[in-house]
Amino acid sequence: MIGRSDDRQALIVLLALSGVLMKGSRRVGKSTLLDDLDGAPPVGWVMVRVDLEKAHGLSEGVEALRADLHRHGLVPDSWEDIVRVFRAIEVQGVEIDLTALLPRDQIGALLATATAGLPKGHRLGLLLDEVPWWLDSVQTVDGGSAAANVMMHLRALRARFSPSMQMVLTGSVGLRPLATMLECDDSLTDLADFELDPLDLEAGSALFEVELAGHTVREEAKRHAWELAAGVPEWIVELANHMPELTEEVGVAHVEAAADNYLSSGARPFDRERRRHLVLRHGEQAAEVMKQALDVAAGRNGWVPIRGLVAVVMAADSSLSARKAAGLIEELIEAYYLRRVDHENVVFHCPLFARAWMLYGSDV
Ligand SMILES: Nc1ncnc2c1ncn2[C@@H]1O[C@H](COP(=O)(O)OP(=O)(O)OP(=O)(O)O)[C@@H](O)[C@H]1O
Ligand SMILES: [Mg+2]
Repeated sequence: MIGRSDDRQALIVLLALSGVLMKGSRRVGKSTLLDDLDGAPPVGWVMVRVDLEKAHGLSEGVEALRADLHRHGLVPDSWEDIVRVFRAIEVQGVEIDLTALLPRDQIGALLATATAGLPKGHRLGLLLDEVPWWLDSVQTVDGGSAAANVMMHLRALRARFSPSMQMVLTGSVGLRPLATMLECDDSLTDLADFELDPLDLEAGSALFEVELAGHTVREEAKRHAWELAAGVPEWIVELANHMPELTEEVGVAHVEAAADNYLSSGARPFDRERRRHLVLRHGEQAAEVMKQALDVAAGRNGWVPIRGLVAVVMAADSSLSARKAAGLIEELIEAYYLRRVDHENVVFHCPLFARAWMLYGSDV
């Protein structure tokens, strides 16, 4: 992990005080940072990263939590044994069948068991990764207000187990807008925001150089790769992976060739960004007008006035109020499609992504 020691330290300091909502653009390195904490926790902490991306619905999320707490030796493997330990801690003598409990009550039981099982003087850092994707699937699988209920329940658990346990919630797309959509803004008000920024020029250059070990890389080539990738480590690595045959010092032209190679490769870069997210969150109609705003932004090789994009959205859907239209542009900023350069202007978040959008458009 390159260039993240300050972020790591800042996150630890914050987590000692409160739960954290970690935000950051796609592929910026959120999971990598959480993995690093899980693998090499600071003194006094047991850090457990739970990847919820593939958990489908509430019960699979609970299962992922159980498996990861068990991986760290904090809870037994089987529910039968977990029940035994939990009963001894919480509900002395009362007959209880946890497997018959609702999955959300199982979360509470897992956390009670895990915090009781912590080594002396240690706290539990529960690092929940890809929470929004999971909540989307909870909404689909469990229906009704299941996702909002989970969010409120997690909040109650944070209050109950703090300070023995602190939570980090993260995911590729904004949790706060999701909470607003689910009408449960309250569920996140106890969390401190932590933004994981893209790598700075120095760290981005170092990463590009490491990936091209054995070659001499010109300063301007490193800067160009960093700029095209908007400092996002994954895209920096991909540029390095798609270099043309290198027989001389790596220059800007090589980086440009790598960008072309990457975008025309079979890998379908930015596939996920071009497809699911907009529709999943906003429905077909809103997604269509947001797509049109992004078409305009991608086509401009530079800043675009927010007011212009609002006008594009309103022209595309005349039923939208100016406020609603501005809200959709805000969503595109919040979801890291666009980046604010000042009060009035935005730019497509990542130049490489803008090129992919120009080439392939959106599958919305
Ligand atoms: N600091 C770093 N140094 C080197 N490589 C990194 C660093 N951060 C991330 N990477 C690499 O970039 C890629 C994306 O990182 P990661 O999966 O952590 O991002 P993410 O923010 O969790 O992405 P997503 O939005 O999809 O959840 C990974 O292949 C990872 O190895
Ligand atoms: Mg991730």
